[in-house]
Amino acid sequence: MRIGIIGTGVMGAFHARLLHEEVSGTVVAAVADPDPERAGAAVAAIPGARAFADAGELIAHPDVDAVLIASPDALHAEQTLACIAAGKPTLCEKPLAYSVAEADRVLAAHRAAVGDGIPLVHQGFMRRFDPGYVAQKREVASGVHGRPVMVHSVGRGVATGPGATDESVIFNSAIHDIDIVPWLLGSPVVAVSWHASAVHPGAGSGSLSEPFLLLLRTADGALSTVENALNAQYGYDMRSEVLCERGAVSITEPHRIAVSAGLSQRTHLPEDFRPRFADAYRLELQEWVSALGEGRAPTLATVEDGARATRVAAAAVESMRSGGAFVQVEAPR
Ligand SMILES: NC(=O)c1ccc[n+]([C@@H]2O[C@H](COP(=O)([O-])OP(=O)(O)OC[C@H]3O[C@@H](n4cnc5c(N)ncnc54)[C@H](O)[C@@H]3O)[C@@H](O)[C@H]2O)c1
Repeated sequence: MRIGIIGTGVMGAFHARLLHEEVSGTVVAAVADPDPERAGAAVAAIPGARAFADAGELIAHPDVDAVLIASPDALHAEQTLACIAAGKPTLCEKPLAYSVAEADRVLAAHRAAVGDGIPLVHQGFMRRFDPGYVAQKREVASGVHGRPVMVHSVGRGVATGPGATDESVIFNSAIHDIDIVPWLLGSPVVAVSWHASAVHPGAGSGSLSEPFLLLLRTADGALSTVENALNAQYGYDMRSEVLCERGAVSITEPHRIAVSAGLSQRTHLPEDFRPRFADAYRLELQEWVSALGEGRAPTLATVEDGARATRVAAAAVESMRSGGAFVQVEAPR
């Protein structure tokens, strides 16, 4: 499987390294990025890989069998449509789109292209491959603790990147929680409301209304919380707890080591998502590549999952603009 990667920033370069060093059955054939230095650096250690300035050239190139989109969020829908038109299997980083209309355009084009056949497009919701979340879902689904009644999903980071807005942090960051809560519950989100703290923990918060909480109502009747505190300063800290009728299932922090010294013991928090979710990205990429090679549908999040998450994110933005009212979420048609 010869893969072309669009966008060689933090995420694209990380995917390139994982595909080259840790995923079997694939080669990185090409990358595309308007920044030649980044593109060159991403393929410097990958023999034979080409660097393009233009994503269209990469998508059309006959040496590229499948495309991984890791460009800025706002370009995903347009580039995914180009991949569908070229008939190339595509793994698009989240979000699928920045508006319901764009997501619907991708869905319609995808349906027209593949019908009931093997889907072409999948979405990079890698938490679904994280061993902690997989074990948590399995334990909840076993039913031994009764029905799940509430999920608490917490996402904290050191600092937001430049240019973050109240809208972009929902589509870019909270979208992971927006996907994982209904995945854990096995029930889609039907309504969402948004609330922010008036006290900010980090200087980087600037004019952002953050930390914020989303309340997610799922079709099973459960009410769940999503906390995003992206300028929490102290480290990258993801938490997830599912409260069930007779028990609770939490992911324990995946500390690799604890250091005992000087009459204390400490563990380490990563600075960003890469160390925390390295296994999840690797397992997600391996499943994508293996399934494409075997001619079966990959078990990654689907384009429908991506469109559903976009709908919830758009409804959260609407709630934010209307003072925190619950906004209903329609299923994609
Ligand atoms: N799944 C996850 O956990 C996760 C984590 C981080 C980022 N992401 C996603 O990955 C994507 C990239 O994020 P990032 O942090 O690497 O951003 P980044 O800004 O570091 O990198 C984006 C890259 O895309 C390039 N680019 C800009 N326009 C382009 C175009 N027209 N064609 C090709 N490349 C273009 C930029 O030059 C830059 O190198 C985003 O969509 C983000 O949401 C996902």
